[in-house]
Amino acid sequence: MKKQKPTPVELTPEQIYKHLDRYVVGQEKAKRAVAIAAYQHIKRISHPGLKKSGIVKKSNVLLIGPTGCGKTYLARRLAEILELPFAIADATEYTEAGYYGKDVEVMAGELLQRAGGNVALAEMGIIFIDEIDKVARKSDHGRTGSGGRDIGGEGVQQSLLRMLEGQKMYIPENVTQHWNKHDFVLLDTTNILFICAGTFSDLRAEKIPNPPGFSTKGLPEKARFKKITNEDLTRHGMIPELLGRLPVMVRMDELSPEDLLRVLTEPPDSLVNQYKELMKADDIELVFEVEALKAMVAECQKRKVGARGLRGLMEEVLHDHLFDAPNMRGQTLAITPTYVHERLAKAE
Ligand SMILES: Nc1ncnc2c1ncn2[C@@H]1O[C@H](COP(=O)(O)OP(=O)(O)OP(=O)(O)O)[C@@H](O)[C@H]1O
Ligand SMILES: [Mg+2]
Repeated sequence: MKKQKPTPVELTPEQIYKHLDRYVVGQEKAKRAVAIAAYQHIKRISHPGLKKSGIVKKSNVLLIGPTGCGKTYLARRLAEILELPFAIADATEYTEAGYYGKDVEVMAGELLQRAGGNVALAEMGIIFIDEIDKVARKSDHGRTGSGGRDIGGEGVQQSLLRMLEGQKMYIPENVTQHWNKHDFVLLDTTNILFICAGTFSDLRAEKIPNPPGFSTKGLPEKARFKKITNEDLTRHGMIPELLGRLPVMVRMDELSPEDLLRVLTEPPDSLVNQYKELMKADDIELVFEVEALKAMVAECQKRKVGARGLRGLMEEVLHDHLFDAPNMRGQTLAITPTYVHERLAKAE
Protein backbone atom coordinates (compact mmCIF):
# COMPACT_ATOMS: atom_id res chain seq x y z
CA MET A 1 0.00 0.00 0.00
CA LYS A 2 1.34 3.41 -1.00
CA LYS A 3 1.67 5.76 1.92
CA GLN A 4 2.85 9.04 0.44
CA LYS A 5 0.57 12.05 0.87
CA PRO A 6 -0.38 13.68 -2.39
CA THR A 7 -0.98 17.42 -2.66
CA PRO A 8 -4.11 18.32 -4.59
CA VAL A 9 -3.98 20.98 -7.29
CA GLU A 10 -5.29 24.26 -5.97
CA LEU A 11 -8.04 25.75 -8.08
CA THR A 12 -9.97 28.90 -7.28
CA PRO A 13 -13.77 28.82 -7.06
CA GLU A 14 -13.78 30.91 -10.23
CA GLN A 15 -11.69 28.37 -12.14
CA ILE A 16 -13.94 25.54 -11.01
CA TYR A 17 -17.04 27.55 -11.85
CA LYS A 18 -15.73 28.38 -15.33
CA HIS A 19 -15.16 24.74 -16.11
CA LEU A 20 -18.65 23.82 -14.93
CA ASP A 21 -20.10 26.73 -16.86
CA ARG A 22 -18.70 25.47 -20.15
CA TYR A 23 -20.91 22.43 -19.85
CA VAL A 24 -23.76 23.03 -17.44
CA VAL A 25 -26.42 25.40 -18.74
CA GLY A 26 -28.17 27.62 -16.18
CA GLN A 27 -28.09 26.47 -12.55
CA GLU A 28 -25.91 29.43 -11.53
CA LYS A 29 -26.49 28.96 -7.80
CA ALA A 30 -25.57 25.31 -7.93
CA LYS A 31 -22.42 25.90 -9.99
CA ARG A 32 -21.24 28.57 -7.59
CA ALA A 33 -22.10 26.57 -4.47
CA VAL A 34 -20.36 23.47 -5.75
CA ALA A 35 -17.31 25.51 -6.81
CA ILE A 36 -17.05 27.03 -3.34
CA ALA A 37 -17.52 23.69 -1.60
CA ALA A 38 -14.86 22.03 -3.75
CA TYR A 39 -12.44 24.92 -3.19
CA GLN A 40 -12.94 24.86 0.58
CA HIS A 41 -12.48 21.12 0.54
CA ILE A 42 -9.14 21.43 -1.22
CA LYS A 43 -8.08 24.16 1.23
CA ARG A 44 -9.04 22.05 4.23
CA ILE A 45 -7.16 19.01 3.08
CA SER A 46 -4.05 20.75 1.84
CA HIS A 47 -3.37 23.16 4.70
CA PRO A 48 -1.99 21.17 7.58
CA GLY A 49 -2.97 23.87 10.07
CA LEU A 50 -6.62 23.84 9.05
CA LYS A 51 -6.71 20.09 8.99
CA LYS A 52 -5.18 19.63 12.41
CA SER A 53 -7.19 22.26 14.25
CA GLY A 54 -10.42 20.69 12.98
CA ILE A 55 -12.11 24.07 13.50
CA VAL A 56 -13.23 24.40 9.91
CA LYS A 57 -15.95 21.85 9.39
CA LYS A 58 -16.86 20.29 6.09
CA SER A 59 -19.48 21.90 3.89
CA ASN A 60 -21.19 18.85 2.46
CA VAL A 61 -23.69 19.79 -0.23
CA LEU A 62 -27.27 18.74 -0.92
CA LEU A 63 -28.56 19.43 -4.44
CA ILE A 64 -32.32 19.37 -4.94
CA GLY A 65 -33.87 19.68 -8.37
CA PRO A 66 -36.28 18.06 -10.81
CA THR A 67 -35.34 15.15 -13.01
CA GLY A 68 -33.04 15.98 -15.92
CA CYS A 69 -31.97 19.40 -14.61
CA GLY A 70 -28.29 18.46 -14.41
CA LYS A 71 -27.58 17.16 -10.91
CA THR A 72 -25.60 14.08 -11.89
CA TYR A 73 -24.16 15.90 -14.89
CA LEU A 74 -22.84 18.68 -12.65
CA ALA A 75 -21.18 16.14 -10.39
CA ARG A 76 -19.50 14.36 -13.28
CA ARG A 77 -18.16 17.60 -14.68
CA LEU A 78 -16.83 18.55 -11.25
CA ALA A 79 -15.06 15.24 -10.97
CA GLU A 80 -13.37 15.94 -14.26
CA ILE A 81 -11.66 19.13 -13.16
CA LEU A 82 -10.67 18.24 -9.60
CA GLU A 83 -7.72 15.97 -9.66
CA LEU A 84 -9.04 14.10 -6.67
CA PRO A 85 -10.62 10.68 -6.49
CA PHE A 86 -14.34 10.97 -7.01
CA ALA A 87 -16.89 8.22 -6.59
CA ILE A 88 -20.50 8.35 -7.66
CA ALA A 89 -22.89 6.17 -5.68
CA ASP A 90 -26.56 5.52 -6.20
CA ALA A 91 -28.23 5.50 -2.78
CA THR A 92 -30.94 3.12 -3.95
CA GLU A 93 -28.42 0.27 -4.23
CA TYR A 94 -27.58 0.35 -0.52
CA THR A 95 -29.14 -1.31 2.48
CA GLU A 96 -28.38 -1.37 6.17
CA ALA A 97 -25.38 -3.57 6.99
CA GLY A 98 -26.20 -7.24 7.13
CA TYR A 99 -28.99 -7.16 4.58
CA TYR A 100 -28.99 -8.08 0.92
CA GLY A 101 -27.64 -5.07 -0.98
CA LYS A 102 -24.51 -2.97 -0.65
CA ASP A 103 -23.27 -1.65 2.70
CA VAL A 104 -22.28 2.00 2.72
CA GLU A 105 -18.68 0.87 3.26
CA VAL A 106 -18.71 -0.10 -0.40
CA MET A 107 -19.07 3.62 -1.30
CA ALA A 108 -15.78 4.34 0.41
CA GLY A 109 -14.39 1.18 -1.18
CA GLU A 110 -15.25 2.58 -4.60
CA LEU A 111 -13.49 5.82 -3.70
CA LEU A 112 -10.42 3.84 -2.67
CA GLN A 113 -10.49 2.11 -6.00
CA ARG A 114 -10.65 5.48 -7.77
CA ALA A 115 -7.62 6.48 -5.72
CA GLY A 116 -5.75 3.51 -7.07
CA GLY A 117 -5.68 1.88 -3.64
CA ASN A 118 -3.94 4.88 -2.06
CA VAL A 119 -5.68 5.31 1.32
CA ALA A 120 -4.26 8.80 1.98
CA LEU A 121 -5.53 9.98 -1.39
CA ALA A 122 -8.95 8.39 -0.93
CA GLU A 123 -9.29 10.15 2.42
CA MET A 124 -9.17 13.47 0.51
CA GLY A 125 -11.70 12.45 -2.09
CA ILE A 126 -15.28 13.31 -2.86
CA ILE A 127 -18.28 10.99 -2.79
CA PHE A 128 -21.35 11.96 -4.74
CA ILE A 129 -24.47 10.24 -3.43
CA ASP A 130 -27.21 10.32 -6.02
CA GLU A 131 -30.93 9.64 -5.47
CA ILE A 132 -30.64 10.44 -1.76
CA ASP A 133 -34.39 11.14 -1.59
CA LYS A 134 -35.05 7.47 -2.34
CA VAL A 135 -33.72 6.43 1.07
CA ALA A 136 -36.38 8.38 2.91
CA ARG A 137 -37.67 6.79 6.08
CA LYS A 138 -40.81 4.84 5.34
CA SER A 139 -43.61 5.46 7.75
CA ASP A 140 -45.50 2.42 6.52
CA HIS A 141 -43.13 -0.29 7.76
CA GLY A 142 -45.42 -3.12 6.77
CA ARG A 143 -44.63 -2.53 3.13
CA THR A 144 -40.88 -2.86 3.29
CA GLY A 145 -41.17 -6.61 3.58
CA SER A 146 -38.49 -6.67 6.25
CA GLY A 147 -40.57 -7.35 9.27
CA GLY A 148 -40.85 -3.72 10.28
CA ARG A 149 -37.20 -2.80 9.86
CA ASP A 150 -36.65 -0.04 7.39
CA ILE A 151 -33.42 -1.45 5.94
CA GLY A 152 -33.39 0.53 2.72
CA GLY A 153 -34.57 3.83 4.15
CA GLU A 154 -33.78 4.89 7.67
CA GLY A 155 -31.23 2.10 8.04
CA VAL A 156 -29.19 3.49 5.15
CA GLN A 157 -29.53 7.03 6.42
CA GLN A 158 -28.17 5.97 9.81
CA SER A 159 -25.17 4.28 8.17
CA LEU A 160 -24.60 7.30 5.92
CA LEU A 161 -24.76 9.56 8.93
CA ARG A 162 -21.87 7.75 10.55
CA MET A 163 -19.83 7.97 7.39
CA LEU A 164 -20.61 11.66 6.83
CA GLU A 165 -19.78 12.48 10.42
CA GLY A 166 -16.35 11.05 9.92
CA GLN A 167 -15.25 7.74 11.27
CA LYS A 168 -12.57 5.20 10.75
CA MET A 169 -14.20 2.37 8.91
CA TYR A 170 -13.03 -0.96 7.65
CA ILE A 171 -13.68 -0.92 3.97
CA PRO A 172 -13.35 -3.59 1.32
CA GLU A 173 -10.15 -3.24 -0.68
CA ASN A 174 -11.68 -4.74 -3.74
CA VAL A 175 -15.25 -3.89 -4.60
CA THR A 176 -15.27 -5.42 -8.03
CA GLN A 177 -15.54 -8.97 -6.80
CA HIS A 178 -17.60 -10.45 -4.03
CA TRP A 179 -16.10 -8.17 -1.44
CA ASN A 180 -16.69 -10.03 1.79
CA LYS A 181 -14.09 -12.54 0.68
CA HIS A 182 -11.45 -9.85 0.45
CA ASP A 183 -9.17 -7.86 2.65
CA PHE A 184 -10.27 -4.79 4.48
CA VAL A 185 -8.36 -1.59 5.11
CA LEU A 186 -8.94 1.15 7.65
CA LEU A 187 -10.04 4.42 6.10
CA ASP A 188 -10.91 7.66 7.88
CA THR A 189 -13.87 9.45 6.30
CA THR A 190 -13.43 12.67 8.31
CA ASN A 191 -12.10 14.71 5.40
CA ILE A 192 -14.07 13.19 2.56
CA LEU A 193 -16.45 15.70 0.97
CA PHE A 194 -19.98 14.47 0.33
CA ILE A 195 -22.26 15.90 -2.31
CA CYS A 196 -25.77 14.46 -2.25
CA ALA A 197 -28.54 14.94 -4.78
CA GLY A 198 -32.20 14.13 -5.04
CA THR A 199 -35.40 15.21 -6.75
CA PHE A 200 -37.68 15.17 -3.68
CA SER A 201 -40.41 15.32 -6.28
CA ASP A 202 -43.31 15.38 -3.84
CA LEU A 203 -41.93 18.57 -2.30
CA ARG A 204 -41.44 20.46 -5.51
CA ALA A 205 -45.07 20.30 -6.40
CA GLU A 206 -46.02 22.61 -3.56
CA LYS A 207 -46.60 26.09 -4.83
CA ILE A 208 -46.87 29.21 -2.76
CA PRO A 209 -50.54 30.13 -2.53
CA ASN A 210 -51.36 33.57 -3.90
CA PRO A 211 -51.44 36.12 -1.13
CA PRO A 212 -54.88 37.74 -0.99
CA GLY A 213 -55.14 40.59 -3.44
CA PHE A 214 -51.97 39.61 -5.30
CA SER A 215 -51.69 37.94 -8.62
CA THR A 216 -48.61 35.87 -9.44
CA LYS A 217 -49.44 35.97 -13.14
CA GLY A 218 -46.43 37.08 -15.10
CA LEU A 219 -44.00 35.89 -12.48
CA PRO A 220 -41.73 33.14 -13.75
CA GLU A 221 -42.99 29.69 -12.81
CA LYS A 222 -40.04 28.90 -10.57
CA ALA A 223 -40.61 31.99 -8.46
CA ARG A 224 -43.91 30.53 -7.36
CA PHE A 225 -42.43 27.36 -5.95
CA LYS A 226 -42.10 27.25 -2.21
CA LYS A 227 -38.62 27.37 -0.78
CA ILE A 228 -37.79 23.91 0.52
CA THR A 229 -36.87 23.93 4.18
CA ASN A 230 -35.27 21.32 6.42
CA GLU A 231 -38.70 20.70 7.93
CA ASP A 232 -40.07 19.81 4.48
CA LEU A 233 -37.22 17.35 3.97
CA THR A 234 -37.83 15.82 7.38
CA ARG A 235 -41.47 15.38 6.48
CA HIS A 236 -40.32 13.66 3.30
CA GLY A 237 -38.55 11.12 5.52
CA MET A 238 -34.99 12.38 5.84
CA ILE A 239 -33.60 12.15 9.34
CA PRO A 240 -32.68 15.56 10.79
CA GLU A 241 -29.23 14.38 11.89
CA LEU A 242 -28.33 13.57 8.29
CA LEU A 243 -29.64 16.92 7.03
CA GLY A 244 -27.55 18.58 9.72
CA ARG A 245 -24.50 17.08 8.04
CA LEU A 246 -25.45 18.61 4.70
CA PRO A 247 -25.26 22.31 5.51
CA VAL A 248 -25.14 23.65 1.94
CA MET A 249 -28.56 23.10 0.39
CA VAL A 250 -29.01 24.25 -3.20
CA ARG A 251 -32.19 24.10 -5.21
CA MET A 252 -31.79 23.63 -8.92
CA ASP A 253 -34.37 24.86 -11.38
CA GLU A 254 -36.32 23.10 -14.05
CA LEU A 255 -34.68 24.02 -17.37
CA SER A 256 -36.61 26.61 -19.41
CA PRO A 257 -37.14 26.20 -23.18
CA GLU A 258 -34.27 28.66 -23.72
CA ASP A 259 -32.03 26.55 -21.48
CA LEU A 260 -32.98 23.36 -23.33
CA LEU A 261 -32.11 25.01 -26.63
CA ARG A 262 -28.73 25.96 -25.22
CA VAL A 263 -28.21 22.40 -23.91
CA LEU A 264 -28.77 21.18 -27.46
CA THR A 265 -26.22 23.49 -29.02
CA GLU A 266 -23.75 25.12 -26.62
CA PRO A 267 -21.73 22.70 -24.48
CA PRO A 268 -18.67 21.22 -26.22
CA ASP A 269 -20.35 17.81 -25.96
CA SER A 270 -23.80 19.10 -26.97
CA LEU A 271 -26.07 16.72 -28.83
CA VAL A 272 -25.97 18.82 -31.98
CA ASN A 273 -22.18 18.67 -31.96
CA GLN A 274 -22.19 14.94 -31.25
CA TYR A 275 -24.51 14.06 -34.11
CA LYS A 276 -22.75 16.44 -36.50
CA GLU A 277 -19.48 14.69 -35.70
CA LEU A 278 -21.06 11.29 -36.09
CA MET A 279 -22.40 12.16 -39.54
CA LYS A 280 -19.17 13.83 -40.53
CA ALA A 281 -17.48 10.48 -40.05
CA ASP A 282 -19.69 9.30 -42.94
CA ASP A 283 -18.82 12.44 -44.92
CA ILE A 284 -22.28 13.94 -44.41
CA GLU A 285 -22.91 17.50 -43.35
CA LEU A 286 -25.77 17.74 -40.86
CA VAL A 287 -27.43 21.16 -40.49
CA PHE A 288 -30.15 21.96 -37.97
CA GLU A 289 -32.51 24.87 -38.55
CA VAL A 290 -33.13 26.80 -35.35
CA GLU A 291 -36.89 26.28 -35.66
CA ALA A 292 -36.30 22.54 -35.93
CA LEU A 293 -34.38 22.59 -32.66
CA LYS A 294 -37.17 24.64 -31.09
CA ALA A 295 -39.71 22.05 -32.19
CA MET A 296 -37.64 19.38 -30.46
CA VAL A 297 -37.46 21.49 -27.31
CA ALA A 298 -41.24 21.92 -27.32
CA GLU A 299 -41.69 18.14 -27.59
CA CYS A 300 -39.13 17.58 -24.83
CA GLN A 301 -41.03 19.89 -22.52
CA LYS A 302 -44.21 17.89 -23.09
CA ARG A 303 -42.43 14.76 -21.88
CA LYS A 304 -41.46 16.42 -18.57
CA VAL A 305 -38.13 14.65 -18.25
CA GLY A 306 -35.90 17.71 -18.46
CA ALA A 307 -32.84 17.69 -20.68
CA ARG A 308 -32.71 13.93 -20.29
CA GLY A 309 -35.34 13.62 -23.03
CA LEU A 310 -33.27 15.39 -25.67
CA ARG A 311 -31.06 12.48 -26.66
CA GLY A 312 -34.03 10.17 -27.24
CA LEU A 313 -35.71 12.85 -29.32
CA MET A 314 -32.59 13.36 -31.39
CA GLU A 315 -32.48 9.62 -32.07
CA GLU A 316 -36.14 9.59 -33.11
CA VAL A 317 -35.69 12.56 -35.43
CA LEU A 318 -32.49 11.30 -37.03
CA HIS A 319 -33.53 7.66 -37.13
CA ASP A 320 -33.80 7.32 -40.93
CA HIS A 321 -30.72 9.42 -41.58
CA LEU A 322 -28.66 7.34 -39.18
CA PHE A 323 -29.85 4.21 -40.93
CA ASP A 324 -29.10 5.50 -44.42
CA ALA A 325 -25.90 7.37 -43.59
CA PRO A 326 -23.49 5.02 -45.40
CA ASN A 327 -25.45 5.55 -48.64
CA MET A 328 -25.47 9.31 -48.41
CA ARG A 329 -21.80 10.19 -48.48
CA GLY A 330 -20.99 13.70 -49.66
CA GLN A 331 -24.50 15.03 -49.04
CA THR A 332 -25.80 17.84 -46.83
CA LEU A 333 -28.81 16.99 -44.70
CA ALA A 334 -30.89 19.90 -43.43
CA ILE A 335 -33.14 19.20 -40.49
CA THR A 336 -36.20 21.45 -40.85
CA PRO A 337 -39.14 21.93 -38.46
CA THR A 338 -41.41 20.09 -40.91
CA TYR A 339 -39.05 17.14 -40.94
CA VAL A 340 -38.99 17.09 -37.09
CA HIS A 341 -42.79 17.06 -36.91
CA GLU A 342 -43.06 14.33 -39.52
CA ARG A 343 -40.51 12.14 -37.80
CA LEU A 344 -42.06 12.58 -34.37
CA ALA A 345 -45.51 11.75 -35.72
CA LYS A 346 -44.05 8.58 -37.26
CA ALA A 347 -42.26 7.55 -34.12
CA GLU A 348 -45.44 7.65 -32.04
N1 LIG B 1 -28.11 22.12 -16.91
C1 LIG B 1 -27.69 21.30 -17.89
N2 LIG B 1 -26.77 21.69 -18.78
C2 LIG B 1 -26.35 20.88 -19.79
N3 LIG B 1 -26.80 19.61 -19.94
C3 LIG B 1 -27.72 19.16 -19.10
C4 LIG B 1 -28.20 19.96 -18.02
N4 LIG B 1 -29.10 19.25 -17.33
C5 LIG B 1 -29.17 18.06 -17.91
N5 LIG B 1 -28.35 17.98 -18.98
C6 LIG B 1 -28.22 16.83 -19.91
O1 LIG B 1 -29.24 15.88 -19.58
C7 LIG B 1 -28.68 14.66 -19.12
C8 LIG B 1 -29.44 14.18 -17.89
O2 LIG B 1 -29.18 15.05 -16.79
P1 LIG B 1 -28.80 14.50 -15.34
O3 LIG B 1 -28.44 13.07 -15.41
O4 LIG B 1 -27.80 15.40 -14.74
O5 LIG B 1 -30.20 14.66 -14.62
P2 LIG B 1 -30.50 14.64 -13.06
O6 LIG B 1 -30.76 16.04 -12.63
O7 LIG B 1 -29.42 13.90 -12.37
O8 LIG B 1 -31.90 13.86 -13.05
P3 LIG B 1 -32.40 12.64 -12.12
O9 LIG B 1 -32.93 13.27 -10.89
O10 LIG B 1 -33.47 12.02 -12.93
O11 LIG B 1 -31.22 11.75 -11.88
C9 LIG B 1 -27.23 14.95 -18.85
O12 LIG B 1 -26.43 13.84 -19.13
C10 LIG B 1 -26.90 16.12 -19.76
O13 LIG B 1 -26.54 15.64 -21.03
MG1 LIG C 1 -29.31 11.96 -11.59
